[in-house]
Amino acid sequence: MVFSRFFKSAGNPEPNDDANEPASEPADEPADDAGESPEFDDVESPEALPDQTWLERAMAVLPTGSSAGSKRMEALWGAADAHAPSHYVSAVGCQVTTIDNETLIDCTMALGSVTLGYADERITSAVVAAMTGGNVAGLPHALEVDVAERFCEAVPCSEKVQFLKTGAEAVAAAVRLARTYTGRDHVIGCGYFGWHDWSVTESGVPAATRALYTAIPFGDVAALEHAVSAAGSNLAAIVIEPVVETLAPTEWVSRARELATQAGAALIFDEVKTGFRLAPGGYQEQSGITPDLSAFGKALANGFPLAAVCGSAALMDAARGTWISSTLAGEATALAAARVVLQLHAEHDVCADLARIGTEMRSAVSNAVRASRVPGISIEGIDPMWFLTFDSPALETRFLTASAANGILFKRGPYNFPSLAHDAGTIHEIESRTSNALVAIRDENEG
Ligand SMILES: Cc1ncc(COP(=O)(O)O)c(C=O)c1O
Repeated sequence: MVFSRFFKSAGNPEPNDDANEPASEPADEPADDAGESPEFDDVESPEALPDQTWLERAMAVLPTGSSAGSKRMEALWGAADAHAPSHYVSAVGCQVTTIDNETLIDCTMALGSVTLGYADERITSAVVAAMTGGNVAGLPHALEVDVAERFCEAVPCSEKVQFLKTGAEAVAAAVRLARTYTGRDHVIGCGYFGWHDWSVTESGVPAATRALYTAIPFGDVAALEHAVSAAGSNLAAIVIEPVVETLAPTEWVSRARELATQAGAALIFDEVKTGFRLAPGGYQEQSGITPDLSAFGKALANGFPLAAVCGSAALMDAARGTWISSTLAGEATALAAARVVLQLHAEHDVCADLARIGTEMRSAVSNAVRASRVPGISIEGIDPMWFLTFDSPALETRFLTASAANGILFKRGPYNFPSLAHDAGTIHEIESRTSNALVAIRDENEG
């Protein structure tokens, strides 16, 4: 088994398939090297196989090739068989090294979950300290309280907060709290909220669950009013993702605030992408419109798995009347990472930097596109979250793969995300590498 070496580190017995069989070293007998730091020198990078690519191996054991939908080959490049990078082995700053030892400037920043840069030393040392101190125990870690206090300082609607691991969980928890508090079922929403049953129409979701959710178009006041009136006295919540390609019109969100209040329903903002990016408190901080509940994730812990559901004390206290819990929700590493993030945002206007860098990134790409005279490519979105559109899927795949061949990873569809690691030199490289990619496309077009 190719990975067996991973399990042979000092003090780690071989994994045992039979749960009833005692492990080779009884837990209550100290190992020879007890008290010393285990040595991991024999843990190497994943090992390549001569006759199979990483993608072939991925497709054999992972049903869609990647556990994150947006990192499947067809999602990354627009074609499952694209001649393009499939896996990485290290990421530092905004540079990603692929399994084939190519280095790419990453403009995607792990789907917006990293704002400070990959492997940021401040985050890494806090995380290492947290793991060294015991990542989990039979009591909650004191960090949970510390991070909760800092979080409530940073986020306008947050009188109380509960931590979870994924954005989808946090939004689902907000909906659960709204339903518990109001004693009602129906939810109106606009946006992407993750994969959980309450908001999606995918196969496997019972019709009875789908019937309790009405999706409305972004920014459409009349549709919002109509859906609220149709839900009548069964309306539990209106859930809004405040940026869908562009910033939500204030008129629409203010109307949602008014209608939710009038109906006795909760207004929920999904700030999974916008939190700690538009402003520490996300759209609600920027707009001054305060929801009753809100969900955060992604940039909250700079790429470590942490999400939060937060809101007014009254709505959050509905948590006592239902069940929202996860074994590892309060593990220390992600909380330690979030503590650093929260501290940095408190000391410095990180989001102003992200917006400025976003402006520079998109104008670098825009300049390259304009100079190349390759038609059919536009730049859309807002500076902290911008994206490329193409006249045809074929052009999109060509551009993305040519960019990768020239050392840049762009996101297919929304969004490219600036980070603090995209310094002036990198922005300059983005422009020149994008130009090289476009010249290659133009040459092909003309040849
Ligand atoms: C607005 C929004 N909400 C929820 C989610 C789901 O978050 P996660 O993928 O961490 O479950 C995402 C993920 O992209 C998102 O963008």
